[in-house]
Amino acid sequence: MSGAAAARWRTELEAWAIPEELLAAAPESPYGFPVGMFEADPEPADTPSRRHALEALPVGGTVLDVGCGGGAGAMALVPPASAVVGVDSAPHMIEAFAAAAAARGVAHRELLGSWPEVATDAGTADVVLAHHVTYNVPDLAPFALALDAATRRRVVVEMTDVHPWVPTNDLWLAFYGLDRPSGPSAALCAEVLTAAGFTVHSESWQRPARRTDRAQTVAFVRRRLCLPVDAEPDVDAALPADYQFASRSVTTLWWDSAQ
Ligand SMILES: C[S@@+](CC[C@H](N)C(=O)[O-])C[C@H]1O[C@@H](n2cnc3c(N)ncnc32)[C@H](O)[C@@H]1O
Repeated sequence: MSGAAAARWRTELEAWAIPEELLAAAPESPYGFPVGMFEADPEPADTPSRRHALEALPVGGTVLDVGCGGGAGAMALVPPASAVVGVDSAPHMIEAFAAAAAARGVAHRELLGSWPEVATDAGTADVVLAHHVTYNVPDLAPFALALDAATRRRVVVEMTDVHPWVPTNDLWLAFYGLDRPSGPSAALCAEVLTAAGFTVHSESWQRPARRTDRAQTVAFVRRRLCLPVDAEPDVDAALPADYQFASRSVTTLWWDSAQ
């Protein structure tokens, strides 16, 4: 249905597969996200993603946050949102989302599972968010169609302009002599969404710096690089001082429900 762009999206994501021999030698799984890097901000910034969500969100409206992590996207909409639903494939993220919602005194529900497989259990919401999750999704069109089916008003996607691991490509070269890919991009994501039939709007912007814990970030990158814990000083030295996972150049994509 969404043809060439969707196929390119998938192929470019697949090029990020970590070589088998490195995976086999890895001291722990290189995949997964530590919750501390994705906690909801107590004072959410006024970002284009937040603004475009608020435009569509009625007072007392509902938000569904797909790939919610600790709920940074949804919690930035409380208020005016009166209820939030978080979907995530990682149990520790679901717990963090629930805790963030409870701390704000907002009605909440959590769904552990992978989107779009759990979409029917999620129900519908006024605004549906998918922030910093699309680069985990090889089959982007079905993922987006399920987001669209779940919203009564608008879907808001936030993502880095380029794949979030691109800024670590020099480290792969330094540690393994391995060239890493550069695609896909937010621009290609917009092409896939347009080909899927949505009228997609796009805004590129510079995200404020996240509060980051350097030691946690170094550990995260070290793990992704399939290296042992004792390599952390070398990773720290190789990683730019201002490195942030998910660079600050981001794009917000949004479309309105045709329903
Ligand atoms: C980089 S984090 C972003 C979290 C949050 N949206 C934010 O912007 O801070 C991506 C999250 O998406 C989750 N995730 C990845 N693929 C998913 C899928 N297909 N369905 C549900 N959750 C997914 C991961 O477990 C992780 O918590």
